[in-house]
Amino acid sequence: MKTNKANETKGIPKTGTFKIISNERLSRDFFRMRVECPNDARMGQFYMLRAWERYPVLSRPISVFDSDGESVSFLYKTVGVGTEIFSGLEAEDGIFLLGPLGNAFPDARGKIALVGGGVGIAPFYLAAKQLRTAHPECRLDLYLGFSDRALLIDDYRKTADDVIVDVGGFITDAIDPAGYDYIFACGPEVMMRALYGKCGQAGAAGKVYVSMERRMACGVGTCLVCSCGTADGNKRICRDGPVFKGEAVFGQC
Ligand SMILES: Cc1cc2nc3c(=O)[nH]c(=O)nc-3n(C[C@H](O)[C@H](O)[C@H](O)COP(=O)(O)OP(=O)(O)OC[C@H]3O[C@@H](n4cnc5c(N)ncnc54)[C@H](O)[C@@H]3O)c2cc1C
Ligand code: FES
Repeated sequence: MKTNKANETKGIPKTGTFKIISNERLSRDFFRMRVECPNDARMGQFYMLRAWERYPVLSRPISVFDSDGESVSFLYKTVGVGTEIFSGLEAEDGIFLLGPLGNAFPDARGKIALVGGGVGIAPFYLAAKQLRTAHPECRLDLYLGFSDRALLIDDYRKTADDVIVDVGGFITDAIDPAGYDYIFACGPEVMMRALYGKCGQAGAAGKVYVSMERRMACGVGTCLVCSCGTADGNKRICRDGPVFKGEAVFGQC
């Protein structure tokens, strides 16, 4: 694909085909891709990615794992046809990007827990870096849960005060909600729901923010494919989210 740098206005999503700098395999099904693409991505935002003309038609939403302003990185897991195509791309290949999209985790101070399960660890690398830069005095604990093999732990350790890792169990067991001012979560919905329930029992439900996942089509709020019921009515995860207060999406459970 021919690469370009389209639409470079700050704060407005960019679209275009951009050059891949690297696309490394981290494990059997986890990959990290870095793309040359000026951006001002905030923690929790995502891009729509596409590396095909026709099949499988729709772009795929992937969170921003890291950004240095001139390039953006993605951590992704191969689960189907689109992510399999991504995994076969090489440095110098082009990839179509639209983003950064969606809202972001809120600015947080004090003691902050970032809880990621599986590929849900992705947004918390940039989140930890941005929170540390904005509030050097904050306390940042990362809770990372994996089903079979831990990944990138040394990288995450550089961003946080403490990194707690669980492989094969429930990372939510390790957290004491009373110890935190904010708790951000991303991962399987069942994990986030369990975490929200645990925080609710500890009187800490209001501290929880979750990043929701749905299949997406447009990524920009027009098709309603990604609708999700919340306490404030149906919301579009791509445009109103992906980050919501836990109370808004799990408040009834
Ligand atoms: C806001 C957001 C951020 C995301 N961030 C990341 C990320 O950082 N890294 C990453 O690896 N993945 C992320 N995902 C999930 C990723 O978009 C899907 O795994 C991807 O679209 C699957 O495409 P595919 O063509 O490989 O799989 P498909 O062939 O389309 O589907 C394979 C399987 O994955 C399921 N699936 C597909 N899309 C989704 C989805 N959006 N949510 C839940 N299940 C889905 C399907 O039901 C099916 O079982 C994110 C999703 C959202 C909505
Ligand atoms: S994916 Fe189209 S409205 Fe969200």
